Amino acid sequence: MPVSYNESCRVFRLDTMNTTYLIGIVGKENFLGQIYYGPAVPDDDMRFLMRLEDRPWTPDSNPRERASFYDAFPFEYPAWGGGSFREPCLRVQDAAGGGNCELFYESHTILPGKPALTGLPAAYGTPEQCDTLEIICRDPILQLRVSLLYTVFRDSDVICRSVHIKNDGDTPLSLTAVLSASLELDNMDFDVITLHGSWAREREMDRRPLAHGKQEAFSLRGISSHQYHPFLALCEHTATQEQGLAYGMSFVYSGNFLAQAELDQFEKVRAVMGIHPDGFCWYLEPGEVFQAPEVLLVCSENGLGGMSRAYHDLLRNHLIRGQQKHRPTLLNSWEACYFDFDHDKLLELGQEAAKSGIEMLVVDDGWFGQRYNETTSLGDWYVNEAKLPGGLKRLGDELNELGVKLGIWMEPEMISPDSNLYRTHPDYAMTLPSRAPTLARNQLILDLTRKEVRDCVYSQIAAVLRSAPIVYLKWDMNRPLTDLYSSALPRERQGEVYHRYMLGVYELQERLVTDFPDLLLENCCSGGGRFDAGMLYYSPQIWTSDNGEAIDRLSIQEATALAYPFSSMGAHVTCCPCHINGRITPFVTRGQVSIPGCFGYELDISKLTAEERAMIPAQLEAYLLYGPIFHMGDYYRLASCTKNHSYDAVMAVSKDKSQAAVLYVQVISRAYRRSLRLLLNGLDGNARYRECKSGETRSGAAWMHGGLLLKDVQADFHSELIVLERVEI
Ligand code: DGJ
Repeated sequence: MPVSYNESCRVFRLDTMNTTYLIGIVGKENFLGQIYYGPAVPDDDMRFLMRLEDRPWTPDSNPRERASFYDAFPFEYPAWGGGSFREPCLRVQDAAGGGNCELFYESHTILPGKPALTGLPAAYGTPEQCDTLEIICRDPILQLRVSLLYTVFRDSDVICRSVHIKNDGDTPLSLTAVLSASLELDNMDFDVITLHGSWAREREMDRRPLAHGKQEAFSLRGISSHQYHPFLALCEHTATQEQGLAYGMSFVYSGNFLAQAELDQFEKVRAVMGIHPDGFCWYLEPGEVFQAPEVLLVCSENGLGGMSRAYHDLLRNHLIRGQQKHRPTLLNSWEACYFDFDHDKLLELGQEAAKSGIEMLVVDDGWFGQRYNETTSLGDWYVNEAKLPGGLKRLGDELNELGVKLGIWMEPEMISPDSNLYRTHPDYAMTLPSRAPTLARNQLILDLTRKEVRDCVYSQIAAVLRSAPIVYLKWDMNRPLTDLYSSALPRERQGEVYHRYMLGVYELQERLVTDFPDLLLENCCSGGGRFDAGMLYYSPQIWTSDNGEAIDRLSIQEATALAYPFSSMGAHVTCCPCHINGRITPFVTRGQVSIPGCFGYELDISKLTAEERAMIPAQLEAYLLYGPIFHMGDYYRLASCTKNHSYDAVMAVSKDKSQAAVLYVQVISRAYRRSLRLLLNGLDGNARYRECKSGETRSGAAWMHGGLLLKDVQADFHSELIVLERVEI
């Protein structure tokens, strides 16, 4: 049983494959405390970890010191008030303006399967796959009912946590903070890991010792953002890629977030994750409910690699819909011609694609309205017949005749001030009354909190998709949210706009994947500004970064793989010199670095050298053969250029351990170096494996402990794709 309750010690236990999580009901008032989360233990009663005997602090034994109790108790779901000075998950303002909230256990149920979270992306599972514990707590004064939900899958080391809040009273309340999960851990000499970045530098890893005080990553941009990431890990300072204790928190949400770890006066750590409280205030009328998004918790004794593999499996098996969909190799028009194309140019690209064996042409930005540059036409989702006479239908049909599929780009959440949509419905744009709107990339955001606005965009998207043989949609989003205000909401609900906007986006994408089940959706946000588990619920792949340059991509893909599988990362061979950083890298390396992800080209093939063009069929074949090992297999990071400043190596092993692939990149060559020894991982030690190029055959154990010798090559940016296949003995 992955979920159980021991009545004698009043302890709930959640058992994943390798970990245990214990929650206890404490004292006469029924406080709910987090007792233990870590490697599997058979004991239910680990209540000693709550240190209730350290001082006479429990309200039962010492009512005089209630505030001190609140200051130290490991609350399972901490609310603000009563001496709770650490970051709370819940803050409530009552009708009189008071702000205390106290939660006490009331009841619980263990449900087979996993209930869906209304309007939100979340992991899913059948009663055969998982069980869910629902613990109901109540504030008897506010009549606030708080349901804590925990799902445990039988085949996973992830625990899914979320919170559902209901106003059972007869006066309205305002929720000024609702975070989704908190962890209460003893400091094990932890490092904290967060991801930071910028446009074209999304997701670089920051690992630093956890210090007293609060360390956090956050977004207040209305998107999960390029700058920080809705992910946080705590690991032992000595933890390595494959050894040591590591905890992960990953948020299934795509808007504002807070991911925070605090080391307190008692050397305890509270780590919280949820919607950022700044700019958030949810008005709850009597009877109304609020559903907070889900957090995915992982604890691994096998270092960061163990944590990543747990996330990859959970996302692939229980969150990403369309994971099994074929991801066609593609040629994208953006870096090939930006806005400067017409029917003939696109057809020419399609012919090049057909000659090389690329499966799909994606017409990126520029096919609609009067979109000759970025100042205009977002919201006018009809074909520019001057550029594309006969429309997408003619183009699609002609491409199909060549054996090439058609994909298109849209940016449905936006409106250009210079557009017919804006001229007809200026009120559809999200702007503040009596203030000039804040432009970004010349565009404004649609107020997607409003149903009529969503319906208007959706009918346009659906009409375009029905008008032509379109099999793929790249859904872009190119600016942060500012000027938060919805003309459809009263004053007391304006604090709901950020989250209601996100719910609007989710509703649109849900409609899309329901109405067009065969469509392959790829999310994008000015590169990888909304690469998160929330968006992966709708699109099995996301554009990882506008920076497709192979060497910069190594660190972007490394940090992304911390929490997401390679099957989710859009990865294209882009122009050289790179349009973003000017670097010149070999075509072979650009191809091989993209092979682990969802492979494509984003350049004008006709401008390649004959030698480079000739390499394309072999690159496509390598992707078709070895891409699936990275997409579906177990991920091992063998070396990181961000650490050794010289070379990078990533490996994947198929689930049945019959195949393995290693991507090795010598970033900077090292003079007078002897061959480099790379220890492989994840193989069956007793089986024998043949390296496909050299034919060299050794036991899995020998590849893992003896390793692979990589010859010295006198070149920077040199890469090799090494493939091993199990041979029958
Ligand atoms: C930003 C995306 O990241 C690019 O790939 C491209 O689609 C442009 N937008 C188009 O405007």
